[in-house]
Amino acid sequence: MVKIRVAETASDWREIRGLCVALQEHGRASDPRMPPGEGMADAYLGDLLRKCALYDGKVFVAETSDGVVGYLCVLAKVPCAEPADGLAEQSEVVDLVVSDRARSAGVGTALLASAQAHAAAAGSSHLRVTVFARNASAKTFYEKSGFEPHEIVYEKPLPAAFRPRQ
Ligand SMILES: CC(C)(COP(=O)(O)OP(=O)(O)OC[C@H]1O[C@@H](n2cnc3c(N)ncnc32)[C@H](O)[C@@H]1OP(=O)(O)O)[C@@H](O)C(=O)NCCC(=O)NCCS
Repeated sequence: MVKIRVAETASDWREIRGLCVALQEHGRASDPRMPPGEGMADAYLGDLLRKCALYDGKVFVAETSDGVVGYLCVLAKVPCAEPADGLAEQSEVVDLVVSDRARSAGVGTALLASAQAHAAAAGSSHLRVTVFARNASAKTFYEKSGFEPHEIVYEKPLPAAFRPRQ
């Protein structure tokens, strides 16, 4: 049985920090340019709280009899950078992670339901999330939850010869 609630206590934030490190290390498997989790987690979570205050954000934790096993951050009112988008604001899931031992038991789906409810209550018509192209399990997870690819970012490595010398 999983309970979803807003993160509150210092103990919640200790668990979130550990999960944030795990999420970063998971991301580094797709993109080794990302910095190690232990070195970035405190600054990252400070920035996340600042964004929550600015953009009507919430951090939800998932709790089972094993304690906190996952968290999600949703920002409900992020100003759109692109005037051409046709949206003044959008809602985004910026972090979602479930601990290894609690996966495939509906915890991610329950966290996502809380994000959707928060975004809808804030007046949003859509919810967005960015996923690494190589993160096949997360792509399946979001598509199973009704998300569809909206925009695809391509990149290619540039030959060293084209870059300015340091
Ligand atoms: C993605 C993640 C949050 C899913 O959480 P979860 O609690 O395991 O997901 P659920 O149990 O609610 O799964 C719901 C559906 O998603 C799909 N799914 C979940 N994990 C999957 C996996 N590893 N492979 C393929 N499909 C998967 C399944 O269709 C599943 O439905 P089913 O159980 O009926 O088959 C979790 O795997 C995770 O933390 N991954 C590492 C971090 C990450 O990638 N976060 C997303 C960054 S954008």
